[in-house]
Amino acid sequence: MLINKMEDVKSYLEFGYKKGEEKVIYDSKEEQDAYDFFMVPRYLKDIISYRTGKIENVHHKDDLTDNKKKYAALTTCKRFSENLVFYEVGSSLMGVIDSLEYINRQTGKLDIKKIQFIGVDNSKMMNHVAKYIHHGYDIKLYEGKTKIECDVFFAKGVSILYAFENEEIFCSTLLDSKISIFDYTFSTKDKLNEFVGTGKKVTFLSLDKCRELLDKEGKILILEPSQRIKNDDEKKVTYECIFGDKEIVSLYLEELKKS
Ligand SMILES: C[S@@+](CC[C@H](N)C(=O)[O-])C[C@H]1O[C@@H](n2cnc3c(N)ncnc32)[C@H](O)[C@@H]1O
Repeated sequence: MLINKMEDVKSYLEFGYKKGEEKVIYDSKEEQDAYDFFMVPRYLKDIISYRTGKIENVHHKDDLTDNKKKYAALTTCKRFSENLVFYEVGSSLMGVIDSLEYINRQTGKLDIKKIQFIGVDNSKMMNHVAKYIHHGYDIKLYEGKTKIECDVFFAKGVSILYAFENEEIFCSTLLDSKISIFDYTFSTKDKLNEFVGTGKKVTFLSLDKCRELLDKEGKILILEPSQRIKNDDEKKVTYECIFGDKEIVSLYLEELKKS
């Protein structure tokens, strides 16, 4: 489908019943409501899966792998920080807490209740639910990006595509962390604006510009070609990325091998 104007696209959700080929619509939602009515239950289902230990029911099959990376990064930073700070942009329902608790039940290297979780999500509904379901945890939630010095920064590639429209703010967020872990699809030339299947606008930031901004003394950027996302489009390239203090990144890679 060719989309001529960016304003032509919006998220959409329909609910109803089917009688043969005939569809009867009971209710429908648009834009942020459509996104929330579909995604909140999906993330809740993931949280229930981690809490009950039935992780085969988690929506994304590689979710546990990502969560082991967050766990290994926090375990590494614990050697240097008394009070760990975890920062996620696109924090949804703060399901990170439940997945870390799940891993911790097997390894016990962290006290999850002592970690400060800072999340940014533009969905009011997600931020409310995140608070309601995580009593007893140290959580701060924002609707817009904030400048935060943290131990571990994490974001899903899609969250970065949604939330960051320029390389300067994205890279300064990474520079404020001891270690950042994320997957991301970069533009191989200048930044690109498009839409994804959820109907939300995304920006693919320029790889060269990010590399330049992250080229700092004592820091290292590791880019591994993604095994999960293959791009046919030569204008884009997807990587599993690690960025941070050289010593922390090297200790993190050792820690990850143990998981
Ligand atoms: C792919 S989901 C993140 C998944 C997730 N937290 C996890 O660990 O699997 C993307 C999240 O980004 C949020 N989001 C979308 N646009 C945003 C924006 N402009 N700023 C911040 N968050 C945004 C969505 O509400 C959603 O919770």
